[in-house]
Amino acid sequence: MVCFLTFYFQTGLFLIFMRIDIISAVPELLQSPFEYSIVKRAQDKNLVEINVIDLRRYGLNKYGQIDDYQYGGGAGMVLMVEPLYNCITDLQKDTVYDEIIYLTPDGQRFEQKKANELSLYKNLLLICGHYKGIDERIREHFVTLELSIGDYVLSGGELAAAVVVDAVVRLIPGVLSDAESALTDSFQDGLLAPPVYTRPADFKGWKVPDILLSGHEAKIKEWRLEKSIERTRKRRPDLLGE
Ligand code: ADE
Repeated sequence: MVCFLTFYFQTGLFLIFMRIDIISAVPELLQSPFEYSIVKRAQDKNLVEINVIDLRRYGLNKYGQIDDYQYGGGAGMVLMVEPLYNCITDLQKDTVYDEIIYLTPDGQRFEQKKANELSLYKNLLLICGHYKGIDERIREHFVTLELSIGDYVLSGGELAAAVVVDAVVRLIPGVLSDAESALTDSFQDGLLAPPVYTRPADFKGWKVPDILLSGHEAKIKEWRLEKSIERTRKRRPDLLGE
C-alpha cells in the first residue's frame, strides 16, 4: 500500500487523477465519444476514469421501469425519482462528488470558463435526462450544477454530457502535449483562435500567408493576435464587449 501511494505521489498521478461518472438511460449513446482521440488517450494514461452507469440497472418492478407520465398531465415521460435516488446514493457510497451536474436546456450556459473550473476537480457526476427530463426532487436534493450546451433541445443529455466531458478532459494537466496546448484554444484568452495552415504552402495557387513561412517568431505572434482580434470582432463582437 505504502509502495503504491509513493508511486502515485512521486509521479504526480495521484494529484491529477479525475473520475467522471455519468448516469444515463441510454448508455449506448455514450459508447464511442470516449473511445477515440484525446479523451481515449487521457484514459489510457490514467489521467481520467470515465464510467457510464446504466440507469436501467436501478429500474423498478419486473419491467425495470425508470420513467413514468408526469403528474398534472402533459406529453412526455419523466425519469422517476426512485431509480435515480438509488443510483446516486449507491455511487455516493464510494465517492464524494465535487459537483453533481444535470444536463438540461434550462441550465446555465456551458462555456470555456466553466470547463476550466471543472477540470480542477477530482470527482464529477453527470446526470443525463431523457424524454421530458428528470423528477424535480432529484434536482432539488442532489444536483449542484445545471448546464446547458445551447439554446436548443436535444433528445437527451447524453450528447451534452459528451461535449462537457470532452471540453473538460482536454484541460486536465498532462492530457495535451505542449504542442497541443489548450492555452491557444479559442476562448481561453477571450478571443477566437487565428486561422491555421499546414503543408503544402501553395495548393492550386491558394497560398499560405508569407509571414507564417518567415520563421520570425515575434512577427508571427503579432500576426496571430491581429487575426484573432479581427476574427473575433467580425464573428463574436460580444466577446470584445462591443
Ligand atoms: N438536454 C437536452 N437538451 C440539452 C441542452 N441543450 N443542453 C444540455 N442538456 C440538454
